[in-house]
Amino acid sequence: MDTKVKNKSTFKGMYDDYRRLLKYLRPYRGEFLFASLTMVIVSSTSGGAAFLIQPLMDNVFIKKDARMLTILPGILVAIYILRGAGRYFSSITMQRIGMQTVRDLKNEMYGHTQGLSLRFFQQHTTGRLISRIFSDTNLVQESISVVIYDTFREGLTVVTLVGVLIYRDPTLSVFALLVLPFSALFIGRLGSKIKKITFGAQERAADLISLMSEAFSGVRVVKAFGMEAYETEKFKGENERIFNITVKTVKINELSSPLLEFIGALAIAAIIYYGGWQVVEGRTTMGSFFSFLTALFMLFPPISKLARVWTKIQQAMAAATRIFEVLDQKPDVADQKDTVNIGPVVREVAFEDVVFAYGNEPVLRGINFTSKAGTITAIVGMSGAGKTTMVDLIPRFYDPLKGRVLFDGVDIRTVTLESLRAQIGIVTQDVFLFNDTIWNNIAYGRSNVKKEEVEAAAKAAYAHNFIMGFPDGYQTIIGERGARLSGGQKQRISIARALLKNPAVLILDEATSALDTESEIEVQKALNNLIENRTSFVIAHRLSTILHAQVILVMEKGKIVEVGTHNALMVLDGAYKKVFDLQFAANSKIG
Ligand SMILES: Nc1ncnc2c1ncn2[C@@H]1O[C@H](COP(=O)(O)OP(=O)(O)OP(=O)(O)O)[C@@H](O)[C@H]1O
Ligand SMILES: [Mg+2]
Repeated sequence: MDTKVKNKSTFKGMYDDYRRLLKYLRPYRGEFLFASLTMVIVSSTSGGAAFLIQPLMDNVFIKKDARMLTILPGILVAIYILRGAGRYFSSITMQRIGMQTVRDLKNEMYGHTQGLSLRFFQQHTTGRLISRIFSDTNLVQESISVVIYDTFREGLTVVTLVGVLIYRDPTLSVFALLVLPFSALFIGRLGSKIKKITFGAQERAADLISLMSEAFSGVRVVKAFGMEAYETEKFKGENERIFNITVKTVKINELSSPLLEFIGALAIAAIIYYGGWQVVEGRTTMGSFFSFLTALFMLFPPISKLARVWTKIQQAMAAATRIFEVLDQKPDVADQKDTVNIGPVVREVAFEDVVFAYGNEPVLRGINFTSKAGTITAIVGMSGAGKTTMVDLIPRFYDPLKGRVLFDGVDIRTVTLESLRAQIGIVTQDVFLFNDTIWNNIAYGRSNVKKEEVEAAAKAAYAHNFIMGFPDGYQTIIGERGARLSGGQKQRISIARALLKNPAVLILDEATSALDTESEIEVQKALNNLIENRTSFVIAHRLSTILHAQVILVMEKGKIVEVGTHNALMVLDGAYKKVFDLQFAANSKIG
């Protein structure tokens, strides 16, 4: 009983998915109508050709009617010209519809994933996401172009041919068509098996993409550890599994045709025996019997095509399920109803009893503090204390489980994400730059910026000079993730980007790795320009930052354990002193 319920629900699920998929065809119904008409032409020509066998045989070959001999071949040629044209136009139209639908689906999926929250991207590997947007949609395209096309055309062909069969000999038709339900049952079985395998194959292919993208972007690490052979073996193993699954699919796929043909051959042998006997007895004409037989033979290709279509549908539905899974993902962080825009912070930013966890274990356990607008709040603590997590709640990368984050007394969950994020600038530990020009990286998110603005930002970030040192200046393409720049240069570009945005609130996760002295001094000066006159939250790794900060928050295991200025906290001789001795005392020479 349990399995019955399950089957029913998956069948219903599949039906719903299919209907949902068909909705994407709606904009193209005009083209679809045209394709259907041309398909009707193609299908009728099959029946027409089979039908013509009877007059051809009975009049030309038996009665030796010469007039018919001049007409019939002409009709046959005409039929096939019509058929060719119909086939061409219906095929290109259907493929166009499929490609358009998939183009729309891809756009929708990408747009949707862009709107999803950080948590989603941490739970799904890049490879799986890319595979869903690319491979799965391609499977769906095939299902639309090929499946609908074949189902329609071959289905209609079957109908016209069966019409000829019944017209020629009703009794014999009934017998011949008895074979069909058996075949259908058999094909259905194969189809569900294919669907299951396809699902697995797609998942595997996605893993392969993840594996590659990781190894390519981490190529330095791979080489430094001499792991080229290991990575190659890992790829081989994964690739082999995909190969095995694909072979299995092909085997099952190809099994359907020969088995069906065998069943068909048995039926035909019986029909030839019975039909031939009818002709011998003079109960039917030879032409009529051959017309019947031709129609029957012509039935095989479309039926075996339809059998394949069923397995293709199963494949496509496996892909559609995965696509809709992504489209149905709701962002955890989204605008609530009746949100309003919020202006830049003028009084304070506050955390009120904030609790947060990524999984079950709380990472922030009751955070309380208030930062005055225009001041620097430094956050220090051991690695894993929850510093990054805490500042991630300010732009609502995550929402607190309990408690509130307040801007001028307003819960930031009650304002629009757009107005909130518009006033926040973020400079992270690992700088992320796009494979684009320096100009576009600095002006990211801003349209219509003036040349002077970009240059002023770059100058304040101590980046202008080195940028002008490149032959292409601001138009220099910086490589994937900024691969063609040094660490300090990347940081200064990201500082210029933040400066250009000119945010009221600044979040700065200082890089832990110290740069060489000269670069460090430049970055330092750039950061000082950036922090000025803003409400800044700085996860500090530099001595100068903590010395400048109005307030230092000391974090330990998800809690703020000490609050105060550097001097006051040093006097306390507690948690801060420990962190200071470990992280800052050694740097004091540079700072
Ligand atoms: N995306 C995540 N999913 C699950 N756990 C996470 C995630 N990010 C961080 N954590 C966990 O949350 C805790 C706090 O991490 P967080 O990054 O906030 O520390 P941190 O104080 O910034 O450390 P560091 O100084 O090393 O940057 C850690 O125990 C970490 O393992
Ligand atoms: Mg951190």
